Amino acid sequence: MIIAIDGPAASGKGTLGKRLSEHFGFAHLDTGLLYRAVARVMLDRGSLLTDREAAALVAQNLDVTHLDDPRLRGAEMGEAASMISAYQPVRDALLAFQRQFGSQEPGAVLDGRDIGTVVCPQAEVKLFITATPEERARRRHLELLKRGEQAAYETILDDIRRRDERDMSRSTAPLKAAEDAMTLDTTHLDADAAFRAALELVETQR
Ligand code: C5P
Repeated sequence: MIIAIDGPAASGKGTLGKRLSEHFGFAHLDTGLLYRAVARVMLDRGSLLTDREAAALVAQNLDVTHLDDPRLRGAEMGEAASMISAYQPVRDALLAFQRQFGSQEPGAVLDGRDIGTVVCPQAEVKLFITATPEERARRRHLELLKRGEQAAYETILDDIRRRDERDMSRSTAPLKAAEDAMTLDTTHLDADAAFRAALELVETQR
């Protein structure tokens, strides 16, 4: 069984994906980490993010065993990932790994932007997680402050808006809800309430 979770940056889909996977005893893949890992290799090598061929080569040879590297999680890497993720050959190169991950027994949860539409269109359960940009920026801001990092709310909000715009307007696998996805707006829900609501949606779909 596959649970596909899509949604914009900082919508809480990662946290939900993790909790749902633990609840059902499924494997979990945060697919944003794949794009972040490609971006990191590019930046480490001093390659320009505008170099499509270099990005495609990196994606084709990506070592997927270090996705837990905390350096992948920063805002800078999210922005860089959003740039290289618009290149079709990069997306093509990461597809087989994601599909294989989704074929695990007894099941898998994948979260990203195009899981329900492109990666696993046959998923039994599809969720589209949203929240207003202001609420997502507020959560991200709190998270950074808790980690002791400096961050201005306005900068984070700008960042989120820019990334939404880029992810939704690209021609290849744009961020959008699959026709058969159920949308969950978490703007007024805390993490526990969002999890309970998602669980209810999963139970109605599977
Ligand atoms: O989800 P996360 O913020 O880690 O994703 C970083 C970037 O990777 C996104 O802004 C998006 O451009 C890209 N991405 C994607 N498709 C996915 C997951 C992430 O294009 N399935």
